[in-house]
Parts: sequence; structure tokens; C-alpha cells
Amino acid sequence: MSAQAVHPCNFVIFGATGNLASNKLIPALYRLEQAKRLPEKLIFTAFGRREWDSEMWRAHVMELLHAKVKDRGDEDICARFVARFNYLQGELGEVESYRRLRTELDEHQSSAGSNVIFYLAIKPSDFSAVIKNLYESGLSTPRGQHRIVVEKPFGEDIESAQYLNELLHRYFDEQQIFRIDHFLGKETVQNLLVFRFANTLIEPLWNRNFIDHVQITVAESVGIENRADYYDKAGALRDMLQNHLMQLLTVVAMEPPPALEADALRDEKVKVLRSIRPISKRSVHAHAFRAQYAAGAMDGAIVPGYQNEPGVESNSITETYVAAKFYIDNWRWRGVPFYLRTGKRMAEQTSMIALRFRHPPQQLFRETPLETIDPNWIVLSIQPEESMSMEIHVKQPGLDMDTRMLQLNASYRQTNEAPLDAYETLLLDVIEGDRTLFIRFDEVEWAWRVVDPILKYWAQERDFIHTYPAGSWGPGESNRLFDSEDQEWRNAL
Ligand code: BG6
Repeated sequence: MSAQAVHPCNFVIFGATGNLASNKLIPALYRLEQAKRLPEKLIFTAFGRREWDSEMWRAHVMELLHAKVKDRGDEDICARFVARFNYLQGELGEVESYRRLRTELDEHQSSAGSNVIFYLAIKPSDFSAVIKNLYESGLSTPRGQHRIVVEKPFGEDIESAQYLNELLHRYFDEQQIFRIDHFLGKETVQNLLVFRFANTLIEPLWNRNFIDHVQITVAESVGIENRADYYDKAGALRDMLQNHLMQLLTVVAMEPPPALEADALRDEKVKVLRSIRPISKRSVHAHAFRAQYAAGAMDGAIVPGYQNEPGVESNSITETYVAAKFYIDNWRWRGVPFYLRTGKRMAEQTSMIALRFRHPPQQLFRETPLETIDPNWIVLSIQPEESMSMEIHVKQPGLDMDTRMLQLNASYRQTNEAPLDAYETLLLDVIEGDRTLFIRFDEVEWAWRVVDPILKYWAQERDFIHTYPAGSWGPGESNRLFDSEDQEWRNAL
């Protein structure tokens, strides 16, 4: 993986007071500080709307660290990290704020040089205003190296994604653009590449001859966490499936790339997306299912339904759960359904990729006390813990011919190895200029193309949505997507 580090550097966070910055970015940047991976001369500028000054912001970051980062280590590390921050009060839509930012960055030149990273941790609807204002204020004209990090969802459909991309390209080169999908930074997802392509044992089985179907589940127990403003327009299909789950699908299904280089990897992922069988308008019903959480019990307390969340219209039909079935029409996967589902307020916070193998071709044990033999599975858990297991049959010791399922657990984290959130890896990659785990525009475009018929169909059907109680595994009706009666959602790791 090639790396071109930007040391020293100014790291500007737009949307610094928002959810993403507080929950993910700042804790992850802190862990990089702890690991001594931040360049010595790196300054953060937090750009936010609140009427704060740098002192107030630093106090806020300190509180955040105490609330969100366990094992913070030495208080000196906290102090060093917090001292890197400046706060700039500004409006995303006002060019004047960017001129002030420019002056501030000029002032940092002697301590942090002229390399700049702009991180857009903001609502997608604000992306274009920021990009235009960076240009208007002269901030997009590099004096040192400039990079821009754009969060997902990239656009809200194929047309808006193309527009956004064209706008970015007016002012930035492709080499400077980092389209982030943080699921690609998760350990298990990266480990999937190793699991598949470093083990000769596995790869020969990874195809239509042995695999019956694949399930990708990202279940969240959290609700929409005060993000109604964004979420109600996005819904689960745009927020999770078009990007995170599609990326997981590409990593499961892709061919081995010729080299572990950004473009070689992305080429293979694009081939998968291009091979997904298009869903016709008439078959949307058979391929996709949406639902919304109603009130329900979670951890012993009743939580409100989606329509009663603050900021959500009482008649909103935005989906908080989506399940979909895709076929990849290539030599490796033809005929193997990929079932994807994701939802908020589900029974557990669990993300996994599960591959179910075919039944043995002969029912050898039919005449024995064994009634049916469950098929084998490979299960890769992404969270809460990272693990990998294979389920195989063994004979139960005793006089009868009976079997039990044995889980071969290939968990790979040692007890002394601390788990990382996905953002640490990706933020370091941005600083070091490694784009391998970032998304190229054709991936975004093809992923939109895949889900576009579903989006269009649902946009016309605005009068009804299924519901599921908060705290459940989603509505049973989504079972209609399965191709055969012996397929069902797997909830347990
Ligand atoms: C974000 C979505 O991209 O991913 C959120 O916008 C979701 O709605 C989050 O909760 C899940 O990420 P993680 O890393 O917490 O599983």
C-alpha cells in the first residue's frame, strides 16, 4: 500500500460539534495520539456553529474524552491532544467564515505547514455549499498538499451523486478525494481479505458449487439518536445498505486482486457491483422489503416508535429496516442469493457475514436417529466482538449414531490486543495518503445503480409501511425474500 504522508498538517473538521465528530472522530483521533501515530506538527481546527472560543472547545473535548474513551492512559496524553485544537465559529453557507479559516490556516503555517485535510463530517445536504465555499475563499487552491474527506451517503441517488462528484472534481483532483465508508476500516472486514486470500483451505469452497446463500446483517439496537433531520430524508436504504452493506458484499464476493493496491482492489469491487442482476420495477417486491420500528421494550424499558422520535413527522414512512436480495451473475456466484438486512432498534447490536453451505448430496444418515442434518456455516462476526467460526458436524460420543454441531472458533484477537474502532485506521490512512480503503466514484455510482429501482419504486408507494416492535429482530414478513423454505435469517453468532 503506497503512502505519501502529510507531515506537518492542518486538519479541519467541518461539523465538529455534531454527532459523528463526538462519537467517532474525536475518540479515534485520540487513540492515534495515544498510539503516537499523529504527526508532531498536526493542528486541528474545529469548525462549528456554536458561539464558542478555543478554550471552551478544548474543555468540551476534554469532557468528551472522559465520557467516551476508556483506558485514556496518562492525563498528559489528553492534555497534549486537546492542546492541538483551535475552534472557529462559522456558518457552512457563508464564504466569510471560510475567509477567516484561511487567515487562521495562514497563521498556523509556521507550526503546521501548508498541508490541509478538510473533513466533511456534515449532513450530505451541506456538502455542495462547503465545496463551493472552499473554492470561493481560495481554500481549495493548494499551497501544500490538500485532501478532502467526504462522508457517506455520497449523494441521495445516482443523479445527485454524479452532480456531487462533478462538483468535487471542479476543485479537487481525484488523488485528493477520500470518499469514506468506515465499515471498510473494521478489522473483520480487512481480515476477510486475509481469510479468503491467504488460506488455500478456504478459497476453493468460496463459490456457487458449495455455498447455498450468503447473509449480511447489520442490526443496531440504537434508534436514530437525535438525527431526525438527516435520517428522515435518508432512511435505512441510503444510510446503510447502499454503502456499508454493499461494501461488505463486494469484499465477500470479489475475485482476488492482482495486488493489494488501491485501484486493483477497487477494480475487483466494481466488477462485483456491475455483475449484480438489475432489479426490474416488477420484481422490487420480491427483492426488497422495508419496515419501521414501532414502540417496544428494550432492556426492560419501553422506547418510542420511530414516528414519535423528536423531529420526525407523525406520518413519516421512512424505513428504519431494510432487507434485500441480490444475485451476482458471474461464474463464481450465479444462482447464489445474497440476503442483506439492516435495522435500527433491533434486538441486538450485531453485525455479521454468514455463509451457509449446501446440504450434502446424499442423505447417508437417513435411517439413523438423525432426522435432518443442518448445513455447515462460516460466520464472520464484525461486532460486538470480532470473531470467525465454522460449524461442522461431529459424532456425539455414545452408542447411537447421533451428531452434534461443533463451532470451530477462529477468533483472532488475543486478550492483550485492544480492539480499535474503524475510524482509527481510516484517519491514519487519510493523514498518510493511502486510499486503498476508500471508495472510488464508480463504486458509488454502481451501488446507486443497484438500489435505484428500489428507491424509485418506494418513492411512489408512500401510503403504507410495515412495522416491527423495537427490540425485535424485525418483521417476519421479510421472510418472503427467501428462495427456499429451508432458508431463514440467522440471528445468533
Ligand atoms: C453510520 C450510519 O454510517 O453508521 C449510522 O449513518 C449507523 O446510522 C452507523 O448507526 C453504524 O456504525 P457503527 O460503526 O457504529 O456500527
